[in-house]
Amino acid sequence: MSDKYRILKNDNAEAAGGDFASDVDDGLSRPQKSISSKYLYDAEGDRLFQRIMELPEYYLTRCEYEILRDNRDRILLLLGGGQINLVELGAGDGKKTFLLLEHFLERGLQFRYVPIDISESAIQGLIASCCDCYDQMAVEGLVAEYFDGLKWLASQNQRRNFVLFLGSNIGNFTRAETELFLRGLHDALNDGDLVLIGFDLKKDVNRIKDAYDDSQGVTAQFNLNLLSRINRELGGDFKLNQFEHHCIYNEQMGVIESYLVCNKRQDVCIESLGKTFCFEEKEPLHVEYSHKFSEEDVAQLAQNAGFRVVEQFYDSDRLFVDSVWQVIK
Ligand SMILES: C[S@@+](CC[C@H](N)C(=O)[O-])C[C@H]1O[C@@H](n2cnc3c(N)ncnc32)[C@H](O)[C@@H]1O
Repeated sequence: MSDKYRILKNDNAEAAGGDFASDVDDGLSRPQKSISSKYLYDAEGDRLFQRIMELPEYYLTRCEYEILRDNRDRILLLLGGGQINLVELGAGDGKKTFLLLEHFLERGLQFRYVPIDISESAIQGLIASCCDCYDQMAVEGLVAEYFDGLKWLASQNQRRNFVLFLGSNIGNFTRAETELFLRGLHDALNDGDLVLIGFDLKKDVNRIKDAYDDSQGVTAQFNLNLLSRINRELGGDFKLNQFEHHCIYNEQMGVIESYLVCNKRQDVCIESLGKTFCFEEKEPLHVEYSHKFSEEDVAQLAQNAGFRVVEQFYDSDRLFVDSVWQVIK
């Protein structure tokens, strides 16, 4: 199985995710403490995120599952024939993607599946599932950060590319990063290539908030795992029971902001950094953005980055859209 995936090294880190220590140092040294949500996903984070996707409040996964199930024929038609690189950025456990993979295999589409994810455990799990279920399918997993994945994509000019970016992963970027990422994606692809991007749409505020603050507290565990990860991997001594998960919906910006709030002043020593960071009582640590989009936002983002919108697939309640764009060069 290990020959079916590899770790893409970037310029500064020993391996994907190797920037963890320096990013934690940087984020905890800021006046408003913040750590990128990409570090929420280690093996334990992956496991907890799978539980989140099963929660009654977390509508996103069910909506996108319905969209892909109901539109796989149409998606196949859009792809046409020939040899295709089916690349998935931030693939996670790939459960929804399997709907497409199975369908494409049955219909004889010639493709190679290339899931890319920063989490090595996610890629390992995904490759194992592919080997179990679809042993005839060509698959190559890459453990890499999105932007390193784009560099790899830029070298793929032999085949047509179809890029999946599901789950509203795009909502985790800041607005500036979104523009940068989409421009980079456009530039890495060939004229005529297709991308399918999942966007969570703006809707009733309570519905959105419940999805990020579930009644069973799984999202809280998921976010708190970031502190456990720092304790495990970097020799930190965060006292987890003194932090609480808190999320707010900034309606004007259309974004859920998730924080871990310290409820008792503490000094946190991180051994591998040789540093101590002071958390005041009620001090928030920002851990995730989850942007929500209007239909106009989606169209504008496509246009600004040089894509043509080909088709919009909605779930039956119009909570979520999978938008198919074509690269225009
Ligand atoms: C919210 S989960 C969604 C997974 C999947 N796309 C889905 O819809 O079920 C986000 C996934 O993206 C990966 N990820 C997050 N930030 C990343 C980054 N900057 N580069 C590469 N992968 C990233 C995580 O490891 C995780 O597997």
